[in-house]
Amino acid sequence: MEMAPVLGLALAFCILTLASAEEQGYRNSTNANSHERVLECGAPGTPEGELCLEPCKNHTVLDEPFRSTENTEEGEKCDRDLNGWYRFVGAGGVRMPETCVPVFRCQTAAPLWLNGTHPTVGEGIVSRTACAHWSSNCCFWRTEVQVKACEGGYHVYRLESTPQCNLRYCTDPATVIVEDKCERPCRPQEECRLDNGTWDCFCRQDLNSTDVSSLQPQLDCGAREIKVSVDRCVLRSLGFGDEVSAYLRDQNRSCSSVAQREDGNWISVVSPTQAGACGNILEQNQTHAVYKNTISLVNHFIVRDTILSIDFQCAYPLDMKVSLQTALQPIVSSLNVSVDGAGEFTVRMALFQDPNYTSPYEGTEVVLSVESMLYVGAILERGDASQFNLVLRNCYATPSGDKADPVRYFIIRNSCPNQQDATVRVEENGVSSESRFSVQMFMFAGNYDLVFLHCEVSLCEFLKEQCQPSCSRNQLRGEAGAIDPARVLDLGPITRRGKWPSQW
Ligand SMILES: *[C@@H]1O[C@H](CO)[C@@H](O)[C@H](O)[C@H]1NC(C)=O
Ligand SMILES: *[C@@H]1O[C@H](CO)[C@@H](O)[C@H](O)[C@H]1NC(C)=O
Ligand SMILES: *[C@@H]1O[C@H](CO)[C@@H](O)[C@H](O)[C@H]1NC(C)=O
Ligand SMILES: *[C@@H]1O[C@H](CO)[C@@H](O)[C@H](O)[C@H]1NC(C)=O
Ligand SMILES: *[C@@H]1O[C@H](CO)[C@@H](O)[C@H](O)[C@H]1NC(C)=O
Ligand SMILES: *[C@@H]1O[C@H](CO)[C@@H](O)[C@H](O)[C@H]1NC(C)=O
Ligand SMILES: *[C@@H]1O[C@H](CO)[C@@H](O)[C@H](O)[C@H]1NC(C)=O
Ligand SMILES: *[C@@H]1O[C@H](CO)[C@@H](O)[C@H](O)[C@H]1NC(C)=O
Ligand SMILES: *[C@@H]1O[C@H](CO)[C@@H](O)[C@H](O)[C@H]1NC(C)=O
Repeated sequence: MEMAPVLGLALAFCILTLASAEEQGYRNSTNANSHERVLECGAPGTPEGELCLEPCKNHTVLDEPFRSTENTEEGEKCDRDLNGWYRFVGAGGVRMPETCVPVFRCQTAAPLWLNGTHPTVGEGIVSRTACAHWSSNCCFWRTEVQVKACEGGYHVYRLESTPQCNLRYCTDPATVIVEDKCERPCRPQEECRLDNGTWDCFCRQDLNSTDVSSLQPQLDCGAREIKVSVDRCVLRSLGFGDEVSAYLRDQNRSCSSVAQREDGNWISVVSPTQAGACGNILEQNQTHAVYKNTISLVNHFIVRDTILSIDFQCAYPLDMKVSLQTALQPIVSSLNVSVDGAGEFTVRMALFQDPNYTSPYEGTEVVLSVESMLYVGAILERGDASQFNLVLRNCYATPSGDKADPVRYFIIRNSCPNQQDATVRVEENGVSSESRFSVQMFMFAGNYDLVFLHCEVSLCEFLKEQCQPSCSRNQLRGEAGAIDPARVLDLGPITRRGKWPSQW
């Protein structure tokens, strides 16, 4: 059976910050957008007056298949929030229909269609009336739309908020651009095209971005590795050539990647989820462990220097497992347990300083005062935790490192807390891939200064058996069953600090 990676960090979330864009190389190449003939300029004297907008370049892409006039799905949606230049792409079609559309299409009540033809490239921006069909009238409501044909063979529309709700701009599915020649669906930044004899998703030629913030990298904050990817199409539209390399903040630039024809037109760099690796900086607060790094992109045509650097970070909510991963030298013990037919599992046990089980003791020794609480956590780390819960069967302390030492003090016996010891608190046992308990520090009477902890663990297949122990009084009186030394994790020694009260 294949072992699935432990996905304990699935809740990890990603935070992106876009930082210093050292704009050196890309300014000039994106200025060259002057060959288009028709520009829409704002009225003189208005704030928009200075801006000349070229809608073929500056528009919002609407990839919304539900706009298709074939969509009879019920819906009362409207386009109250549209205002500006738009381009329709995707499976719903790329142009508005030029004929009346039956009511209750495009997921709305009254569908809007274009009463008029689409312009050709030479015509520039033209005005058309968009009609909404309602109440047996193909033009019950009307609104002005501006349309322009662009060099790339597509149209852009200046759309305004619809005059009523339950009116929506529709698209004609007959105008869908056949893209199924490509093996995967192309992203909006790409187009499916034949190049050198093969169909593939290539970066769209007309993607002329000038905004560095459109380069938001994609982050994959995994338990084992962090992957940061930058859209090569956007990068190219910012003026980067095809030969771009990306690297992280490591000194040797060993965590880097050179973009060739990477899948999906992404440039990705991967680093292990580890402090120091690839220059990762770990910052920790009370609730999160945050790995920070910077991805830098270098254009090979301008060999000299960094062109663009983007800071990113992955934040992981601090829990028992993340805290052990981020601790410098946690005091842990680990054990491999095999389960027939389900492979091998690793169980780790550690001693924590706090009731949240998020600050493990670090270093080589633990010295505790009498009043201290011991927080002990065990985690199923490697193996398929989707079927197994971790059970602490027997946890006991001995005055020597020998787990078979006959002098034992039971904290958990037969999976249940020792009820004679009021300080024992079993937080979790047998209900997940983690188990934890706390107990107040103690010492053995006599000439002992040290305490060693031992826990016998087992894995319980929760779909097949009852894993949560039911702890009745009768059970507690029983002797501990035979302890299998191969299933025992050991922690210690824990040294006492200060003078010990006499009763122990
Ligand atoms: C950008 O253009 C200016 C003037 O047009 C020129 O002096 C400069 O060298 C150009 N920079 C690059 C990186 O091409
Ligand atoms: C694109 O259009 C928006 C308004 O629609 C405007 O704010 C922005 O400056 C334009 N960008 C460019 C590069 O022209
Ligand atoms: C569409 O526009 C033409 C010309 O303006 C007009 O004659 C016609 O009645 C319109 N169609 C509808 C359904 O309103
Ligand atoms: C075109 O494809 C051939 C064979 O697949 C390859 O040898 C050649 O380098 C390609 N040319 C370009 C310009 O990519
Ligand atoms: C976008 O820019 C590229 C290169 O700068 C140019 O070849 C292309 O024609 C531009 N596209 C449009 C739609 O202007
Ligand atoms: C990285 O560089 C440092 C010092 O410059 C060196 O000690 C280390 O071995 C290098 N690591 C790798 C993976 O090359
Ligand atoms: C800890 O860091 C996370 C992620 O950066 C942040 O969301 C959270 O507010 C921080 N908590 C405290 C207590 O500073
Ligand atoms: C458990 O198994 C893993 C993988 O085989 C190995 O790396 C690790 O050293 C083992 N741990 C112990 C405590 O045997
Ligand atoms: C335990 O966690 C809570 C909330 O997550 C936090 O407010 C508290 O300060 C933490 N306690 C310790 C000792 O870290």
